[in-house]
Amino acid sequence: MFIENFKVESPNVKYGEGEIHSVCNYETTELVHDNKNGEYQWIVKPKTVKYEFKTNTNVPKLGVLLVGWGGNNGSTLTGGVIANKEGISWATKDKVQQANYFGSLTQASSIRVGSYNGEEIYAPFKSLLPLVNPEDIVFGGWDISNLNMADAMARARVFDIDLQKQLGPYMESMVPLPGIFDPDFIAANQGARANNVIKGTKKEQIEQVIKDIREFKEKNKVDKIVVLWTANTERYSNVVVGLNDTMENLLAAVDRNEAEISPSTLYAIACVQENIPFINGSPQNTFVPGLIEMAIQKNSLIGGDDFKSGQTKMKSVLVDFLVGAGIKPTSIVSYNHLGNNDGMNLSAPQTFRSKEISKSNVVDDMVSSNGILYEPGEHPDHVIVIKYVPYVGDSKRAMDEYTSEIFMGGKSTIVMHNTCEDSLLAAPIILDLVLLAELSTRIELKADGEGKFHSFHPVATILSYLSKAPLVPPGTPVVNALSKQRAMLENIMRACVGLAPENNMILEYKY
Ligand SMILES: NC(=O)c1ccc[n+]([C@@H]2O[C@H](COP(=O)([O-])OP(=O)(O)OC[C@H]3O[C@@H](n4cnc5c(N)ncnc54)[C@H](O)[C@@H]3O)[C@@H](O)[C@H]2O)c1
Repeated sequence: MFIENFKVESPNVKYGEGEIHSVCNYETTELVHDNKNGEYQWIVKPKTVKYEFKTNTNVPKLGVLLVGWGGNNGSTLTGGVIANKEGISWATKDKVQQANYFGSLTQASSIRVGSYNGEEIYAPFKSLLPLVNPEDIVFGGWDISNLNMADAMARARVFDIDLQKQLGPYMESMVPLPGIFDPDFIAANQGARANNVIKGTKKEQIEQVIKDIREFKEKNKVDKIVVLWTANTERYSNVVVGLNDTMENLLAAVDRNEAEISPSTLYAIACVQENIPFINGSPQNTFVPGLIEMAIQKNSLIGGDDFKSGQTKMKSVLVDFLVGAGIKPTSIVSYNHLGNNDGMNLSAPQTFRSKEISKSNVVDDMVSSNGILYEPGEHPDHVIVIKYVPYVGDSKRAMDEYTSEIFMGGKSTIVMHNTCEDSLLAAPIILDLVLLAELSTRIELKADGEGKFHSFHPVATILSYLSKAPLVPPGTPVVNALSKQRAMLENIMRACVGLAPENNMILEYKY
């Protein structure tokens, strides 16, 4: 059964003026590697830590600034939210289609709240904690192409024509601000659309972005801003000692107008300086060590990298299932072709390399979790191919072959064909990223005995469900398995309202 909302009544939760205060027992373990008698032994000790959470329930008026606003993702998200807000429906050859948020974890998924009379009871994911309503977001952003958003939507060729016609009047007055352009970082084939660029030195470009953010905030009377990079994939920046390895070196390199600082890093520096959450939806290493240090020092949220929308999402489910079932994936071959501007940009070897890296590590944690299947250091063959085929446009094809070893030397091969409507998969993920990033800045926590509350670590691992290559603070494990990432997010939100994590034991029906 599905219910629309619920209220938690528990001694562990108190609802105050604009605040929820909760207490939860975090059941964890402490590991000791003991070699007292000359023999190594792992000792596992269950441990309970009491945590207090404080969640600000005042939902701000939110501004979202997209870098690459006029791209396929930017125009699809903007049009999609307007269509929902205005209750737009449109005729397709099959039916009259209503606007919806399918594919959004926050807007279209549910959580289990318990069971009642032998039935499982579910509620909307977004009923757990107060989130910004997507329809109250004010969208804006930068693009190196000056097309207004109605023309950008037409260029993207994502929405049905009847929907485009209805959205046009809402979007034609929306025009992206000039963006920071550096042809050295994206494919040469993108140069033709770069007619809307910020001039000046790197320092002046950062200053312009800061000015843009402040003016947007003022003009639209928004309380908070989140900035998200959905511009083209850049090549990797070289990480060089003395250039971008520390915060001090990075800022000094900006002052010297050093070439090897990418546009995405410049936007991120501007945001960190202004304490504005910055999320990277592309695979490049925007977050060079100096920038991570800066975000940590300023306690300014950064999250990424690369939206986890299609093929990788399947991979982070399938390999988790196989390895979890005691089956040994030995070869994973992932082939894609796509025909949108992202595909054209990725046809250059340097930008493709960024994507290849971000797609490659997604099975690492699952493989290293099972030493029965894999020898130390052993890894399945994992190959990724991306080809640009203009005719298919935004309708990306992903073909995957998973070969695994099964019982007694047998082999099992799974072949999958996934038509990923690229931007229609990415747009709801962008929405989730900005809504959850905003929410996470309203949550504070402390362990029992600690005097004051802390915000979450500025490197926002809470967003990892939505990221292909989750960015984590130095010295922190990367979790790629989708079910674990979702459980982490849901359970933290449950803790904020005094609910225990979902443990799936369902003991009440076991005897
Ligand atoms: N399913 C998905 O669509 C998906 C999944 C994961 C990652 N991504 C990544 O998201 C990004 C956007 O995808 P898309 O399909 O919207 O691409 P797109 O090419 O349609 O849009 C990118 C936009 O960014 C603009 N741009 C480029 N450099 C800029 C800069 N420095 N400043 C401001 N604007 C700039 C371009 O003019 C373009 O309008 C790509 O990097 C892609 O790899 C997409």
